[in-house]
Amino acid sequence: MRRIIIAIDGPAASGKSTTAREVARRLGYTYIDSGAMYRAVTLEALRENVSVHNRDKVIELARELDLKLRSHESKTIIYMNGEDVSEKIRTPEIDQNISPVAANPGVRAIMVKKQQAMGEAGGIVMDGRDIGTVVFPHADLKIFMIASVKERAIRRKKELEQKGVKIDLEEVEKDIEYRDKQDINRNHGPLLKSDDAVELDTTRLTVEEQIRKILELAQNKIETS
Ligand code: CDP
Repeated sequence: MRRIIIAIDGPAASGKSTTAREVARRLGYTYIDSGAMYRAVTLEALRENVSVHNRDKVIELARELDLKLRSHESKTIIYMNGEDVSEKIRTPEIDQNISPVAANPGVRAIMVKKQQAMGEAGGIVMDGRDIGTVVFPHADLKIFMIASVKERAIRRKKELEQKGVKIDLEEVEKDIEYRDKQDINRNHGPLLKSDDAVELDTTRLTVEEQIRKILELAQNKIETS
């Protein structure tokens, strides 16, 4: 049976990663979290005291970074130069500094190339902002996942609280709206629904319902291709 490419794009905290990881697990596919890669570059810039606005320096850092993604039970582990930075990349500080890094065309070119190499053999579920438009424009199945800002903020706040981070719902909402705006308005790899993507509004769906919906679409593609 053919092992397809599934691209899941959508705005911040729309439930992409939880859903994508589980869809991949049930299909026996590899899950690739493209956002983790931009997060790692941001972490490296902050550690090295390189301004996230210094395009050339950030590109240099990105070029030299050795990034590896591994799935471990229900988690994705990201290694940056051999160090497990999975937790360190998911903080409000990274969220607040990532937009200029993700808008940097040189950084995007490097990351897109890596992502294409990771997925070219198929049997992958990749989530991000530009997967169905730039990374895999010929993906077999494209999902564009959306949810109301309020619902997304509630979910992200819960996720952060489980890790011991206390944050106001309003602040989370503001961060999400800011990041979405930056993602939509950048020139390279903007957040954009591809014409052939299936839109999935998860505001009133449970995670299990989201997973089943995508699995159903995936099975159809697998059987007919
Ligand atoms: O989980 P959440 O949706 O908050 O974030 P993420 O998917 O980890 O992505 C973090 C940031 O990385 C986004 O706000 C985008 O600016 C950027 N990103 C991107 O530019 N392109 C991708 N393919 C994935 C993420």
